[in-house]
Amino acid sequence: MKRIVVFTGAGVSADSGISTFRDADGLWANYRIEDVCTPEALQRNRAQVIEFYNMRRRESLTKRPNAGHLAIAAMEEWADVQVITQNVDNLHEQAGSKRVLHLHGELMKLRSERNPDLIYDINDGWEQSLDAKAEDGSLLRPHIVFFGESVPMFEPACQIVAEADILIVVGTSLAVYPAASLVYYVRDRQVPIYLVDPGNPDTAMIRNPLTHIKERGAVGVPQLLEQLKNELTK
Ligand code: OAD
Repeated sequence: MKRIVVFTGAGVSADSGISTFRDADGLWANYRIEDVCTPEALQRNRAQVIEFYNMRRRESLTKRPNAGHLAIAAMEEWADVQVITQNVDNLHEQAGSKRVLHLHGELMKLRSERNPDLIYDINDGWEQSLDAKAEDGSLLRPHIVFFGESVPMFEPACQIVAEADILIVVGTSLAVYPAASLVYYVRDRQVPIYLVDPGNPDTAMIRNPLTHIKERGAVGVPQLLEQLKNELTK
């Protein structure tokens, strides 16, 4: 079985009704990163940060996987698939993908401010109360990688990409590092890279054979995977 790695960004969830970050109507057009997505913001303005992620979580509870997520999950029938996502929603898991690595954390988890390994699932509802504490006595925070923080899952993600026979990139502007640099960790220059994105992600430095399918995820992903399935399972 071919090893296919799918690297996704906010665009894969756009067709499920979740806003991207950098499109014209994206989240970062309405919020300043330094107000809601940095460790300093959490210290200075805890209420606003918690509220921002409470709203994201509440919104995400009403969203369902789209045809792109579902096609990626169905690919496990004929390929060895690993998903690496920058998204904090759980739509890949809801679609049935079994191996999903979250580079930037997960909305439905909280963690201790002091101990990053003390992580809790939110099993009920969407609201984190301001004074909720972890068992080590410190306050809880969203299990999200803020700007300026290290990305602990980056190394494991690089290793996964290095084993890919095919890399598929869906719905990311490739503007945020280190995540965007994952596309350079493929084993060699022969590994084909497919990109499904209606916009123009920054691919200037990619030297591998690159096919850009300029479609939204719910259309372009099923099309591409059908084509790959026909080619690979002949
Ligand atoms: P961006 O908002 O930067 O990019 C979204 C990408 O999705 C763009 O390339 C769009 O063209 C594309 N897109 C829009 N609609 C689409 C659709 N219907 N189908 C497919 N693609 C579509 O989002 P990311 O690249 O994911 O980090 O952003 C990376 C990180 O920046 C995020 O993980 C987040 C953000 O700040 C943190 O919050 C730490």
